[in-house]
Amino acid sequence: MREPRLATEADTAAMAALGRSIWPEDYIAADPSRYLADGEVVLIEDEQGLAAMGKWEMLPDASGWISGLRVRGDLQGKGYGRKLLDTLLERAQKGHALTARMLVGDPNTRSLSLAASRGFKPAAHWGMLVAERGTVAAPADAPALVPAGAVYSLEGEIVLRAEFYMRALEATAKVLIAFAQAGRWRQTPEGTLVLHQVRDGPEGAVEYFQLFEPTPTVAAAIAASVAASQPHRAAVLLPWEKREGAEAFLALGFKHSSWAWGAQVLERPLR
Ligand SMILES: CC(C)(COP(=O)(O)OP(=O)(O)OC[C@H]1O[C@@H](n2cnc3c(N)ncnc32)[C@H](O)[C@@H]1OP(=O)(O)O)[C@@H](O)C(=O)NCCC(=O)NCCS
Repeated sequence: MREPRLATEADTAAMAALGRSIWPEDYIAADPSRYLADGEVVLIEDEQGLAAMGKWEMLPDASGWISGLRVRGDLQGKGYGRKLLDTLLERAQKGHALTARMLVGDPNTRSLSLAASRGFKPAAHWGMLVAERGTVAAPADAPALVPAGAVYSLEGEIVLRAEFYMRALEATAKVLIAFAQAGRWRQTPEGTLVLHQVRDGPEGAVEYFQLFEPTPTVAAAIAASVAASQPHRAAVLLPWEKREGAEAFLALGFKHSSWAWGAQVLERPLR
Protein backbone atom coordinates (compact mmCIF):
# COMPACT_ATOMS: atom_id res chain seq x y z
CA MET A 1 0.00 0.00 0.00
CA ARG A 2 1.50 3.36 -1.05
CA GLU A 3 1.54 6.43 1.17
CA PRO A 4 -1.66 8.44 0.90
CA ARG A 5 -1.48 11.74 -0.99
CA LEU A 6 -3.79 14.65 -1.66
CA ALA A 7 -5.84 14.65 -4.86
CA THR A 8 -5.58 17.39 -7.48
CA GLU A 9 -7.69 18.31 -10.50
CA ALA A 10 -5.54 15.87 -12.54
CA ASP A 11 -7.06 12.99 -10.51
CA THR A 12 -10.72 13.71 -11.20
CA ALA A 13 -11.13 11.18 -14.02
CA ALA A 14 -9.68 8.38 -11.88
CA MET A 15 -11.83 9.48 -8.91
CA ALA A 16 -14.96 9.37 -11.07
CA ALA A 17 -14.04 5.91 -12.37
CA LEU A 18 -13.46 4.56 -8.86
CA GLY A 19 -16.76 5.99 -7.62
CA ARG A 20 -18.67 4.60 -10.57
CA SER A 21 -17.08 1.16 -10.18
CA ILE A 22 -18.68 0.94 -6.72
CA TRP A 23 -21.98 2.72 -7.35
CA PRO A 24 -22.96 3.41 -11.00
CA GLU A 25 -24.75 6.59 -9.89
CA ASP A 26 -22.11 7.71 -7.41
CA TYR A 27 -22.44 11.42 -6.65
CA ILE A 28 -18.66 11.88 -6.68
CA ALA A 29 -18.48 10.54 -10.23
CA ALA A 30 -21.19 12.98 -11.30
CA ASP A 31 -19.02 16.01 -10.51
CA PRO A 32 -15.56 15.13 -9.16
CA SER A 33 -14.21 18.69 -9.56
CA ARG A 34 -16.90 20.12 -7.36
CA TYR A 35 -16.27 17.36 -4.85
CA LEU A 36 -12.60 18.30 -4.80
CA ALA A 37 -13.25 22.01 -4.48
CA ASP A 38 -14.00 22.48 -0.80
CA GLY A 39 -11.95 20.13 1.30
CA GLU A 40 -9.03 17.72 1.14
CA VAL A 41 -9.43 14.52 -0.84
CA VAL A 42 -6.95 11.82 0.15
CA LEU A 43 -5.98 9.14 -2.37
CA ILE A 44 -4.19 5.83 -1.96
CA GLU A 45 -2.78 4.20 -5.08
CA ASP A 46 -1.37 0.82 -6.01
CA GLU A 47 0.37 -0.40 -9.16
CA GLN A 48 -2.98 -0.57 -10.97
CA GLY A 49 -3.90 3.05 -10.23
CA LEU A 50 -6.34 4.57 -7.77
CA ALA A 51 -7.12 2.14 -4.94
CA ALA A 52 -8.99 4.26 -2.39
CA MET A 53 -10.25 7.80 -1.79
CA GLY A 54 -11.95 9.82 0.92
CA LYS A 55 -12.47 13.44 1.90
CA TRP A 56 -12.56 15.68 4.93
CA GLU A 57 -13.67 19.29 5.07
CA MET A 58 -14.04 21.86 7.81
CA LEU A 59 -17.60 22.86 8.62
CA PRO A 60 -18.47 26.18 10.23
CA ASP A 61 -19.02 24.54 13.63
CA ALA A 62 -15.36 23.41 13.69
CA SER A 63 -16.25 19.82 12.93
CA GLY A 64 -14.49 17.82 10.24
CA TRP A 65 -17.02 16.26 7.88
CA ILE A 66 -15.75 12.97 6.44
CA SER A 67 -17.32 11.65 3.29
CA GLY A 68 -16.92 9.60 0.18
CA LEU A 69 -14.83 6.70 1.49
CA ARG A 70 -14.31 4.41 -1.50
CA VAL A 71 -12.04 1.37 -1.71
CA ARG A 72 -11.73 -0.47 -5.05
CA GLY A 73 -13.78 -3.67 -4.99
CA ASP A 74 -10.84 -6.10 -5.23
CA LEU A 75 -9.11 -4.38 -2.30
CA GLN A 76 -11.99 -4.09 0.17
CA GLY A 77 -11.45 -5.75 3.55
CA LYS A 78 -7.65 -5.43 3.29
CA GLY A 79 -7.03 -2.41 5.48
CA TYR A 80 -7.30 0.39 2.89
CA GLY A 81 -10.41 1.86 4.48
CA ARG A 82 -8.73 1.96 7.88
CA LYS A 83 -5.63 3.66 6.47
CA LEU A 84 -7.82 6.16 4.62
CA LEU A 85 -9.95 7.03 7.62
CA ASP A 86 -6.92 7.34 9.92
CA THR A 87 -5.27 9.70 7.42
CA LEU A 88 -8.41 11.81 7.15
CA LEU A 89 -8.76 12.00 10.93
CA GLU A 90 -5.11 13.04 11.26
CA ARG A 91 -5.49 15.76 8.65
CA ALA A 92 -8.74 17.01 10.22
CA GLN A 93 -7.01 17.19 13.59
CA LYS A 94 -4.06 19.08 12.12
CA GLY A 95 -6.55 21.38 10.45
CA HIS A 96 -7.95 22.21 13.92
CA ALA A 97 -11.27 20.39 13.66
CA LEU A 98 -12.62 19.66 17.14
CA THR A 99 -14.81 16.70 16.19
CA ALA A 100 -15.24 14.44 13.19
CA ARG A 101 -18.58 13.41 11.74
CA MET A 102 -19.76 11.15 8.97
CA LEU A 103 -23.06 9.86 7.62
CA VAL A 104 -23.46 6.11 7.02
CA GLY A 105 -26.48 4.24 5.70
CA ASP A 106 -27.93 1.57 8.03
CA PRO A 107 -27.22 -1.38 5.70
CA ASN A 108 -23.53 -0.44 5.37
CA THR A 109 -22.25 -2.70 8.13
CA ARG A 110 -18.68 -2.57 6.86
CA SER A 111 -18.52 1.19 6.99
CA LEU A 112 -20.31 1.26 10.36
CA SER A 113 -17.84 -1.17 11.89
CA LEU A 114 -14.90 0.71 10.38
CA ALA A 115 -16.18 3.93 11.97
CA ALA A 116 -16.87 2.19 15.30
CA SER A 117 -13.33 0.78 15.33
CA ARG A 118 -12.08 4.37 15.08
CA GLY A 119 -14.14 5.64 17.99
CA PHE A 120 -17.16 7.06 16.17
CA LYS A 121 -20.44 6.90 18.08
CA PRO A 122 -23.96 7.46 16.76
CA ALA A 123 -25.05 11.10 17.21
CA ALA A 124 -28.34 10.95 15.31
CA HIS A 125 -30.35 8.40 13.38
CA TRP A 126 -32.57 9.46 10.51
CA GLY A 127 -35.25 7.49 8.79
CA MET A 128 -38.15 7.83 6.41
CA LEU A 129 -41.90 7.25 6.65
CA VAL A 130 -44.11 7.28 3.56
CA ALA A 131 -47.81 7.43 2.69
CA GLU A 132 -49.50 6.76 -0.64
CA ARG A 133 -52.36 8.94 -1.89
CA GLY A 134 -55.53 8.68 0.13
CA THR A 135 -54.03 6.84 3.10
CA VAL A 136 -53.43 9.79 5.43
CA ALA A 137 -56.10 10.85 7.90
CA ALA A 138 -56.27 14.56 8.70
CA PRO A 139 -57.20 15.17 12.35
CA ALA A 140 -60.12 17.61 12.63
CA ASP A 141 -58.23 20.05 14.84
CA ALA A 142 -54.91 19.93 12.97
CA PRO A 143 -52.99 23.21 12.83
CA ALA A 144 -51.88 24.49 9.42
CA LEU A 145 -48.29 24.67 8.24
CA VAL A 146 -47.36 28.29 7.60
CA PRO A 147 -44.39 29.78 5.75
CA ALA A 148 -41.47 30.19 8.13
CA GLY A 149 -40.65 33.74 9.19
CA ALA A 150 -36.97 33.41 8.40
CA VAL A 151 -35.67 32.48 4.99
CA TYR A 152 -32.82 29.98 4.96
CA SER A 153 -30.44 29.74 2.08
CA LEU A 154 -30.10 26.18 0.88
CA GLU A 155 -27.56 27.00 -1.79
CA GLY A 156 -24.91 24.35 -1.63
CA GLU A 157 -25.50 23.10 1.85
CA ILE A 158 -28.09 21.82 4.23
CA VAL A 159 -27.67 22.91 7.81
CA LEU A 160 -29.84 20.71 9.94
CA ARG A 161 -28.72 21.64 13.43
CA ALA A 162 -25.45 20.74 14.98
CA GLU A 163 -25.90 17.00 14.94
CA PHE A 164 -26.84 16.84 11.28
CA TYR A 165 -24.81 19.05 9.04
CA MET A 166 -24.06 18.01 5.54
CA ARG A 167 -23.15 19.61 2.29
CA ALA A 168 -25.84 19.09 -0.27
CA LEU A 169 -23.48 17.60 -2.80
CA GLU A 170 -22.53 14.88 -0.39
CA ALA A 171 -25.93 13.80 0.72
CA THR A 172 -25.99 10.09 0.13
CA ALA A 173 -29.75 10.07 -0.27
CA LYS A 174 -30.94 11.74 -3.45
CA VAL A 175 -33.92 13.09 -1.63
CA LEU A 176 -31.66 15.24 0.54
CA ILE A 177 -29.96 16.69 -2.53
CA ALA A 178 -33.36 17.54 -3.91
CA PHE A 179 -34.28 19.20 -0.64
CA ALA A 180 -31.22 21.38 -0.76
CA GLN A 181 -32.09 22.51 -4.24
CA ALA A 182 -35.78 23.12 -3.89
CA GLY A 183 -36.87 22.93 -0.27
CA ARG A 184 -38.98 25.57 1.46
CA TRP A 185 -39.14 26.06 5.19
CA ARG A 186 -42.52 26.00 6.87
CA GLN A 187 -43.49 25.87 10.49
CA THR A 188 -46.36 24.93 12.73
CA PRO A 189 -47.97 27.73 14.72
CA GLU A 190 -46.03 26.44 17.74
CA GLY A 191 -42.83 27.14 15.83
CA THR A 192 -41.61 23.66 14.80
CA LEU A 193 -39.63 23.99 11.57
CA VAL A 194 -40.39 21.73 8.62
CA LEU A 195 -38.54 21.60 5.33
CA HIS A 196 -41.08 20.95 2.58
CA GLN A 197 -40.54 20.08 -1.03
CA VAL A 198 -42.80 19.01 -3.89
CA ARG A 199 -41.39 17.09 -6.83
CA ASP A 200 -43.15 15.81 -9.91
CA GLY A 201 -42.65 12.08 -10.46
CA PRO A 202 -43.87 9.91 -13.33
CA GLU A 203 -46.96 8.96 -11.33
CA GLY A 204 -47.69 12.41 -9.91
CA ALA A 205 -46.45 14.82 -7.28
CA VAL A 206 -44.34 13.55 -4.40
CA GLU A 207 -44.15 15.70 -1.28
CA TYR A 208 -41.19 15.48 1.07
CA PHE A 209 -41.08 16.81 4.59
CA GLN A 210 -37.97 16.89 6.71
CA LEU A 211 -38.19 17.74 10.36
CA PHE A 212 -36.17 17.71 13.53
CA GLU A 213 -38.88 17.82 16.18
CA PRO A 214 -41.50 15.28 15.09
CA THR A 215 -44.10 16.00 17.76
CA PRO A 216 -47.71 14.80 17.45
CA THR A 217 -48.67 18.40 16.59
CA VAL A 218 -46.34 18.61 13.64
CA ALA A 219 -47.49 15.13 12.54
CA ALA A 220 -51.10 16.40 12.55
CA ALA A 221 -50.13 19.55 10.61
CA ILE A 222 -48.27 17.54 7.97
CA ALA A 223 -51.12 15.02 7.71
CA ALA A 224 -53.59 17.88 7.15
CA SER A 225 -51.34 19.39 4.49
CA VAL A 226 -51.01 16.02 2.72
CA ALA A 227 -54.75 15.30 2.96
CA ALA A 228 -55.46 18.70 1.36
CA SER A 229 -52.93 18.48 -1.48
CA GLN A 230 -53.35 14.72 -2.17
CA PRO A 231 -49.90 14.04 -3.62
CA HIS A 232 -49.17 10.68 -5.21
CA ARG A 233 -46.87 10.01 -2.25
CA ALA A 234 -45.77 11.83 0.87
CA ALA A 235 -42.46 11.09 2.58
CA VAL A 236 -41.26 12.29 5.96
CA LEU A 237 -37.59 12.30 6.97
CA LEU A 238 -37.20 12.42 10.71
CA PRO A 239 -34.91 11.50 13.59
CA TRP A 240 -35.85 7.99 14.78
CA GLU A 241 -34.98 8.84 18.38
CA LYS A 242 -38.10 10.95 18.69
CA ARG A 243 -40.36 7.91 19.05
CA GLU A 244 -43.46 9.81 20.05
CA GLY A 245 -43.46 11.82 16.83
CA ALA A 246 -42.73 8.81 14.62
CA GLU A 247 -45.59 6.94 16.25
CA ALA A 248 -47.92 9.88 15.68
CA PHE A 249 -47.13 9.69 11.94
CA LEU A 250 -47.73 5.92 11.94
CA ALA A 251 -51.10 6.42 13.67
CA LEU A 252 -52.11 8.90 10.94
CA GLY A 253 -51.47 6.40 8.12
CA PHE A 254 -47.74 6.76 7.36
CA LYS A 255 -45.72 3.56 7.01
CA HIS A 256 -42.06 2.62 7.24
CA SER A 257 -40.46 3.07 3.86
CA SER A 258 -39.18 -0.05 2.15
CA TRP A 259 -37.15 1.83 -0.46
CA ALA A 260 -35.20 4.31 1.60
CA TRP A 261 -33.06 3.16 4.47
CA GLY A 262 -32.24 5.13 7.52
CA ALA A 263 -28.84 6.70 8.02
CA GLN A 264 -26.70 7.40 11.05
CA VAL A 265 -24.71 10.51 11.78
CA LEU A 266 -21.59 9.28 13.58
CA GLU A 267 -19.33 11.49 15.62
CA ARG A 268 -16.05 11.39 17.54
CA PRO A 269 -13.93 14.01 19.29
CA LEU A 270 -10.57 14.94 17.80
CA ARG A 271 -9.10 16.60 20.88
C1 LIG B 1 -16.49 0.88 3.62
C2 LIG B 1 -15.07 0.80 3.07
C3 LIG B 1 -14.53 2.20 2.83
C4 LIG B 1 -14.19 0.11 4.14
O1 LIG B 1 -12.90 -0.01 3.63
P1 LIG B 1 -12.17 -1.43 3.59
O2 LIG B 1 -10.82 -1.21 3.02
O3 LIG B 1 -13.05 -2.41 2.91
O4 LIG B 1 -12.08 -1.82 5.14
P2 LIG B 1 -10.78 -2.27 5.93
O5 LIG B 1 -10.20 -3.50 5.29
O6 LIG B 1 -9.84 -1.12 6.11
O7 LIG B 1 -11.39 -2.65 7.32
C5 LIG B 1 -11.61 -1.65 8.28
C6 LIG B 1 -12.63 -2.13 9.25
O8 LIG B 1 -13.85 -2.34 8.53
C7 LIG B 1 -14.51 -3.45 9.09
N1 LIG B 1 -14.64 -4.46 8.06
C8 LIG B 1 -13.77 -4.82 7.08
N2 LIG B 1 -14.28 -5.79 6.34
C9 LIG B 1 -15.49 -6.06 6.84
C10 LIG B 1 -16.50 -6.98 6.50
N3 LIG B 1 -16.37 -7.83 5.47
N4 LIG B 1 -17.65 -6.97 7.22
C11 LIG B 1 -17.81 -6.11 8.25
N5 LIG B 1 -16.87 -5.23 8.61
C12 LIG B 1 -15.72 -5.22 7.93
C13 LIG B 1 -13.71 -3.90 10.25
O9 LIG B 1 -14.16 -3.19 11.41
C14 LIG B 1 -12.34 -3.45 9.91
O10 LIG B 1 -11.58 -3.24 11.02
P3 LIG B 1 -10.75 -4.46 11.69
O11 LIG B 1 -10.07 -5.18 10.56
O12 LIG B 1 -9.82 -3.78 12.62
O13 LIG B 1 -11.79 -5.30 12.37
C15 LIG B 1 -14.98 -0.03 1.75
O14 LIG B 1 -15.40 -1.35 2.01
C16 LIG B 1 -15.78 0.55 0.61
O15 LIG B 1 -15.26 1.32 -0.20
N6 LIG B 1 -17.08 0.15 0.49
C17 LIG B 1 -17.93 0.61 -0.58
C18 LIG B 1 -18.21 2.10 -0.50
C19 LIG B 1 -18.78 2.50 0.85
O16 LIG B 1 -19.65 1.85 1.39
N7 LIG B 1 -18.26 3.61 1.36
C20 LIG B 1 -18.63 4.15 2.66
C21 LIG B 1 -19.75 5.12 2.55
S1 LIG B 1 -20.15 5.71 4.16
